[in-house]
Order: sequence, then C-alpha cells, then structure tokens
Amino acid sequence: MSEVLLRAMEERDLDLVAEEERQLFTEPWSRRLYEEERIRAQDRCYLVAEMDGEVVGWAGLGFGAGEGHVMTLATLSTFQRRGIGRLLLAGLVEAARALECSKVILEVAVSNSAAQALYRIAGFAPVGVRRNYYERSGEDALVMILTLSEENA
Ligand SMILES: CC(C)(COP(=O)(O)OP(=O)(O)OC[C@H]1O[C@@H](n2cnc3c(N)ncnc32)[C@H](O)[C@@H]1OP(=O)(O)O)[C@@H](O)C(=O)NCCC(=O)NCCS
Repeated sequence: MSEVLLRAMEERDLDLVAEEERQLFTEPWSRRLYEEERIRAQDRCYLVAEMDGEVVGWAGLGFGAGEGHVMTLATLSTFQRRGIGRLLLAGLVEAARALECSKVILEVAVSNSAAQALYRIAGFAPVGVRRNYYERSGEDALVMILTLSEENA
C-alpha cells in the first residue's frame, strides 16, 4: 500500500469532505460547519489522511480545559480496513498530548461496532452512555475515554 500521510485540513479539502461525509454519516455535517470548525485554530485541530495526493480520510479534535474531544473521524469506504482510521486517531491523540490534555473523550453510536473496535484498540475505555445523543435517530452514544496523564486527570 502507498504511504499514508497526515496533514492539516485545508479549505481545498472541504468539497470532498462534505460530499463523502454524506455517504459515511447518517447525520452528516455540512461544508459550512466543516469550514467553521477548521478555522477555529484556538480550540480545534482537523487532519486529513492523504494517499498518492488524494484525501482518503479525516478527523477532528476539539480541545480546552486540559481535555481533548474527538469531534469526527472517517475513512472513505473504499479505503477502510487499511489502518487509516487508526493512523488518524493516533494523529489526534498525538495532538492532544502536545496540547497537554490529560484525557481524550469521545461519543460513538452504540450500534457503531466498527468505530468502537478501533477506539478500544487505541486504548479508549467505555465510561458511560449518553441517552438520545443523536438528534435524528435518537440513538444512544457510548462515551469512551483515553487517559493520557493520571497526574492531571
Ligand atoms: C470507523 C472508521 C473510521 C474506521 O476506519 P478504518 O480506516 O477502516 O479503520 P482501520 O483500518 O484503521 O481499523 C483499525 C481497527 O479497527 C477495527 N475495525 C475497523 N473497522 C471495522 C469493522 N468494520 N468491523 C470490525 N472492526 C473494525 C479493526 O480492529 C481494525 O483492525 P484490523 O483491520 O487490523 O482488524 C470507518 O469505518 C468509518 O469511516 N466509518 C464511518 C464513519 C464513522 O462511523 N466514524 C466514527 C464516528 S464515531
């Protein structure tokens, strides 16, 4: 497989991200929301994974008060199960460490066993459930946490 590189999400990525988002998520974010998120350098870090010059996945971290929050994570369907999600998640965790976050939190749909498996492999542990978390479906979300630094947690 060609090398996969991570870089910051840029304005030129947004058309593809917004289009693929509609294929990958039942409650997709709009292009405008991605643009608003992407430019919040003070509390957001958005990455894309690139292979042979093409975007094959993306992920976003929110941060503040010593905590990181996985905002989104996706791999284009034709590139899944090649380690790209794992790489993107590692990129977010690395960013959280560099920002001195003591933990990283995320919500994942209770039915999304693929993403849950990925998060468990990366060391995230389930800590609770948020009821009716997803607006459209009303589905519950599993809350998972990765502890980075016990001293500051
Ligand atoms: C979840 C998602 C990001 C995983 O991306 P990916 O690039 O396929 O993940 P990886 O190839 O890095 O997988 C790493 C590990 O996670 C687990 N995993 C990933 N997809 C899986 C699946 N469909 N079923 C079971 N386990 C899975 C496996 O253990 C896998 O390791 P393996 O392939 O060596 O067995 C991808 O399926 C996706 O974009 N889904 C739609 C959007 C989404 O649900 N995002 C998460 C929102 S919380």
